[in-house]
This record gives sequence, structure tokens and C-alpha cells, in this order.
Amino acid sequence: MYIADEKRYEKMVYNRCGKSGLKLSALSLGLWQNFGSKGCFANMEQMVHTAFDLGITCFDLANNYGHPYNGSAEENFGRILNGMRAYRDEMCISTKAGYEMWPGPYGDRNGSRKYLIASLDQSLKRMGLEYVDIYYHHIFDPNTPLEETAEALDHVVRQGKALYVGISNYNKEQTENIQKIFKELRTPFVVNQPSYSMLNRWVERDGLDKYVAENGVSLAVFSPLFQGLLTNKYLNGVPADSRVGRGDTWIGKELNDAVVAKLNRLNAIAEQRGQKLSQMALSWVLHNEAVATVLIGASRPEQIVENVACIEKLAFSDEEIAQLEQILAE
Ligand SMILES: NC(=O)c1ccc[n+]([C@@H]2O[C@H](COP(=O)([O-])OP(=O)(O)OC[C@H]3O[C@@H](n4cnc5c(N)ncnc54)[C@H](OP(=O)(O)O)[C@@H]3O)[C@@H](O)[C@H]2O)c1
Repeated sequence: MYIADEKRYEKMVYNRCGKSGLKLSALSLGLWQNFGSKGCFANMEQMVHTAFDLGITCFDLANNYGHPYNGSAEENFGRILNGMRAYRDEMCISTKAGYEMWPGPYGDRNGSRKYLIASLDQSLKRMGLEYVDIYYHHIFDPNTPLEETAEALDHVVRQGKALYVGISNYNKEQTENIQKIFKELRTPFVVNQPSYSMLNRWVERDGLDKYVAENGVSLAVFSPLFQGLLTNKYLNGVPADSRVGRGDTWIGKELNDAVVAKLNRLNAIAEQRGQKLSQMALSWVLHNEAVATVLIGASRPEQIVENVACIEKLAFSDEEIAQLEQILAE
């Protein structure tokens, strides 16, 4: 039987999510990759236990996570939860709907009331939960009126099936527009989930980070390690047992000689700071005041241990920031 480490809350940092009362662990564990039915269940379970033992309270899912079939990550997470239900109230569990999920017009990529409400019922069943803590619309849908998407999210909160709502992959303008509707409805809208890392800074160019910081919402950012590129893993080639080596992702296309040179220069700064490259990349993302939590992925428990240790050195000197800006601008 799993018994959580009693020291789990001693080191982790918890950040307030927007202006809400909800606090998020500075690192969240995302179950997008490596939690499908093809993976090793014991490894998945070990990763969730390791994360929880280190103070990670936030676990991020979506209806379509898991290979080879959509929903298998939620099923596996439900199985893992069966061994740790006593800790349910210590966890912030999120799921999403928005991408293609099931055949036909109601489960394709959209933001309709029909899809969002049905999908959450399916997710709750797969995970064996009565409610999720945060329910997200996964991607902006230009073909559904924003009012309909907002009202569907509001509805699941009123039903008690979600405590808070979020949006994902919405830019600043889309966020501003839906927030106006949420305000009218008094929906507990607390978070936007975009991609963000040292190698992907669109939220800064778009102004989304400044907007949310000024408007009582936080960012929960995904792929903070640019799917693993911002680690020591690819500094000297592509290991076979890596996301790029296995061909699990498009991110391999980004890995050219210039990027590897940049990663090595970033690594030199990380070493000066006494950190691994992965840890510095996570500290850097958390340095943005709009970010309440970084969603890390992992293929093995040791990566979670390494990554969580970033919280031991979150601060950057002005000189370090200037050096990093120079490398990132090249
Ligand atoms: N809302 C959205 O549209 C959206 C989209 C994508 C992701 N997400 C969320 O964000 C979460 C994280 O995304 P991500 O998996 O792309 O994040 P990431 O943290 O950028 O990449 C994680 C991958 O990097 C490698 N890695 C992690 N730590 C490492 C370390 N210390 N040393 C060496 N390699 C390491 C592992 O891959 P290998 O070991 O396999 O190489 C791991 O699976 C997802 O699980 C999901 O919850 C959301």
C-alpha cells in the first residue's frame, strides 16, 4: 500500500492561481506522454508517487491523452488513484476537452456545449472521480460562439463537476474576450495553459503573460523543457531512448546544429549557477510573474526528482538574465 512521504510539503513552493484562493505547486506533473496503455504501469505509478512525495499536488490530464487510444492516460491515472484515494483532497487534478476525441461531429475538435459537457462526464468516469479541480477548454474554436464555450464551462462548475475552469492555447485577445463573459457569469476562471519555454516565447511577444498578470489569472505553462531539448540529454547527440530518438514527437525537427550549440551555451550558464540545464530552464520559466506552475512531463521517476530540485534556485541575477537574453536572441 502506498503511504506518502510525510515530509512532502517541506520544500515545494505553492503559488496562488490568479486572484483565486487556489494554490498550485510550482511544478505540476503532466500525463500527456508515457501514461498510455502501451507504457509500463509500474513506471507510471512510480512517477505519480514520486511527484506526490516531492510536494507536487497538481496532475494535468486531457480527454485525449494516452497511446494507442485516447483516454488511456485518464484510465491509468484512475487506476493509480485507486491506490491513493486517501490523498484526493491533497491533489489538484485537471482535465481538458477541445481536440479530436471520438468519431463524428460531436467529438471532433470543437468547443460546443454538447462536446464539453459529454467529455467531462467521460473523463470523470475514466478517472473514477466525482469532480475535477480544473476543467479546461483545450484549444480556441473559431466556429463555436465564445459565449457557448464559456457557458458550458460555467455549467459544469454549477453542476459540481469542476471547481475552477481554465482555457488552453488561447492568445491574449481570445483570453480577454472569454474573460469578459466569465465575469458576467461569475465563473471561477483562474488559469490559461499555453506553451512556454526558453526556446518558445510566444506568450511574451503576444502580451498574454502581462495581460493575465494584470487581470487576476495565472499561466500554467506546458512543455517548459521544449519536450526535453532543454536538458542534458541532447547536448551530444540523440539517445535512442528519448522522445526524439523514439520519434514520438515533431520536436526533433527543431534539433539542428545551431540549436545544439545554443543548448551547450545555456548549459554553461546552468553549470555556473550550480544547476542542471533542465533545472535552470524550469527556474527561468517560473521567474515570469505570470506563471503559477510549470507542467513537466517525464518518462521516468528520476527526471521528476531532478526537475523538482529547480526550486532550490529560482532566483536569477541581473547579469545571468542578461547573459541568457543574449544567447536566446541569437
Ligand atoms: N494544453 C496543451 O495543449 C498541452 C500540450 C502539450 C503538453 N501539455 C501538458 O504539459 C505537460 C508537459 O509537456 P511536455 O511533456 O512536453 O513537457 P517537457 O517537460 O517540456 O518535456 C518532458 C519530456 O522531457 C524529457 N525530460 C524531462 N525531464 C528530463 C530530465 N531531467 N532529463 C532528461 N530528459 C528529461 C522526457 O522525455 P524523454 O525521456 O522521453 O526524452 C519528458 O517526457 C504534458 O504532460 C501535458 O500535461 C499540454
